[in-house]
Amino acid sequence: MPCAAITGWGAALPDQVLTNADLEARLDTSDRWIVERTGIRERRVGGTTTGLAVQATRQALSRAGMDPAVVDLLIVSTNTPDQPVPATASLVQGELGLAGGAMDVNSGCSGFVYALVLANGAIATGLERVVVTASDTVSRIVDPEDRSTAVLFGDAAGSVVLEAVPGEPMLLGWDLGADGGAASLLYQPRGGYVYMDGREVFRRAVRATAASAQAALERAKVDVSEVALFIPHQANLRIIEAVCQRLGLPMERSMLIVERTGNTSSASIPVALAEAVEEGRLSEGDLVLMSGFGAGMTWGSAVLRWGRRPA
Ligand code: UT7
Repeated sequence: MPCAAITGWGAALPDQVLTNADLEARLDTSDRWIVERTGIRERRVGGTTTGLAVQATRQALSRAGMDPAVVDLLIVSTNTPDQPVPATASLVQGELGLAGGAMDVNSGCSGFVYALVLANGAIATGLERVVVTASDTVSRIVDPEDRSTAVLFGDAAGSVVLEAVPGEPMLLGWDLGADGGAASLLYQPRGGYVYMDGREVFRRAVRATAASAQAALERAKVDVSEVALFIPHQANLRIIEAVCQRLGLPMERSMLIVERTGNTSSASIPVALAEAVEEGRLSEGDLVLMSGFGAGMTWGSAVLRWGRRPA
């Protein structure tokens, strides 16, 4: 059976920086509260979901040295499309001149992990080149006057290119789940701003992320001590710390970008992955654990072996 390998990666962040000091100036909040409760110091805001997705995808294709005309499928994860119809993937495909199919996934902040598992499956069924891009611009749908959400979110896109290669599987284990009964804890009413019951979402995020990561590790037959890098969804530093504690994983083995980006929804994991690769934090054969949690409520984890693994 053909196996997938990640051969390209990319990230796009808007130029505009929104600092805690900027928020302090217009909201009843403080740098101290935001840093203590979330770990966030600044976020990047602006741009469109499609525009950021195009930028990140272009970078991932270029790093893979791949001609857009040979792509078989583009999967875009987004919870914040610029328009409901058509799929953001179609717009990105048109802009970059990609060949093949195009589809969106809307699975909250776990969307990238969902799309990655789908892409891996697509390669197992015979597709040769699949691009997975996650792009979200949540800053556009938060009430700028609501301190409980306005301080949390930023905008970004991240992308990976998967290619069929002979050799050992890349995806060793995964876990996907959803609890639609809890959907009202985090949602956007039609035409309105995002609502979140932060305290309850926090509790569930810690519990579900840790349980999901554990399930994926078990499926992969990998012990947590073997994980070289943990790439969690970047919503809140305290959530990541609590998850690491539950898993028995030292924080030094976690990739952290939340301080500079805020919560970029489903883009956070691929942006963190791209930065980890560029910083030289991943070597051939390393085991990587990714884990996300978000609106839906959804959760998803994946255990990957990094690099091309000849048979
Ligand atoms: O990506 C999808 C998943 N999303 C998440 O995982 C987010 C999960 N939730 C969280 O990260 C946290 O719950 C928040 C960061 C949203 C809130 O932190 P918290 O420690 O749970 O605070 P809280 O909601 O319990 O609020 C504590 C206090 C409240 O005041 P009282 O009722 O104690 O007087 C809030 O009104 O902090 C107040 N507060 C603020 N104060 C200053 C809420 N937001 C702010 C603010 N600045 N921005």
